[in-house]
Amino acid sequence: MNILAVVSGGDAPGINAALFHLSRLVESNDDVLYGASGGFLGLLNEQIVELSPTLLMPTIGSGGSYLPSSREPVLNGVSRRAKIKSILEKYAIDGIVLFGGDGTMRHVLPIVSVMAVPCIGIPTTIDNDVPGTDETLGFDSACNYAISAIDGILATAYGLPGRGFVVETLGGRSGILALQIAQAVGAHAVLLPEYDFDEQWLVDRLRQALDKFQHALLVYGEGIASSRTLIDTLHSNHHLRLRDTRLGHAQRGSRPSYRDRWLANEMMDLVYQAFADGIQYGVVVIHDGRLRLSETDIAHLPPKMPDRNRYERINDLHSS
Ligand code: F6P
Repeated sequence: MNILAVVSGGDAPGINAALFHLSRLVESNDDVLYGASGGFLGLLNEQIVELSPTLLMPTIGSGGSYLPSSREPVLNGVSRRAKIKSILEKYAIDGIVLFGGDGTMRHVLPIVSVMAVPCIGIPTTIDNDVPGTDETLGFDSACNYAISAIDGILATAYGLPGRGFVVETLGGRSGILALQIAQAVGAHAVLLPEYDFDEQWLVDRLRQALDKFQHALLVYGEGIASSRTLIDTLHSNHHLRLRDTRLGHAQRGSRPSYRDRWLANEMMDLVYQAFADGIQYGVVVIHDGRLRLSETDIAHLPPKMPDRNRYERINDLHSS
């Protein structure tokens, strides 16, 4: 078999480990693993490299992606799709393994129908917002990175009491990442793009925490409407002085955790077996801790939302 790996959209920790495991499976079965360098744009420009375990071994402990990704919406044009189809034919590609988030997973089915090549999607994003799966590759590492950073913040909060801290996580328009992190670190308040909040409520909540614990911790997802002005507003309107930390892209490029490396391995076992069995289409999903190949088209699933109950519990909204 000739298998092609494509990474599209935001990279995530665990991609390198997955590429390594797949390359090892491929090599031991005398197959070939190619990679598109630069996502679908790289594929369109025939930037294709051959991948091997020797090449990839040094990368398994790194975040990012050995195969550069791209956010270019290349597959929208008819002539571009035709060109990609001819490149896939030239390299005699028997299957595409596609890494990416929600938007990328929507291309899996069209690739199979338009390019006539089997395609398996690997939901890969630190945001964990791909519908139809409990967990995406990269999410666990991004949570661990944030937890470790916030542990440091809390250490200094105890060391020099009386201050309020605010931490912004990545996550785009989804608050799932911020919510899970807030729960894990015992934040006093969490703000998410999906749920509105009242400014005075937030001020009271942070002041109560300061009184009771001698520090206050707010975690919010970068997609909240007021993310760029929140700290200044709380200071100027309410004289609440807060120290802020933006985890930014250091979070996305963080080291892959044990769980993400394990997931990467299990996912690639499934993918390789699926191609060997002649399966045409699927997305690797996780439900209740079990991995399987799903044929559900995620384009038809509702958006994944952060758990409202958990949000209300952290913010103590049930009792207010
Ligand atoms: O890949 C997901 C993500 O990291 C989001 O969490 C974030 O909002 C976005 O990508 C950032 O995208 P870019 O790197 O293009 O600025």
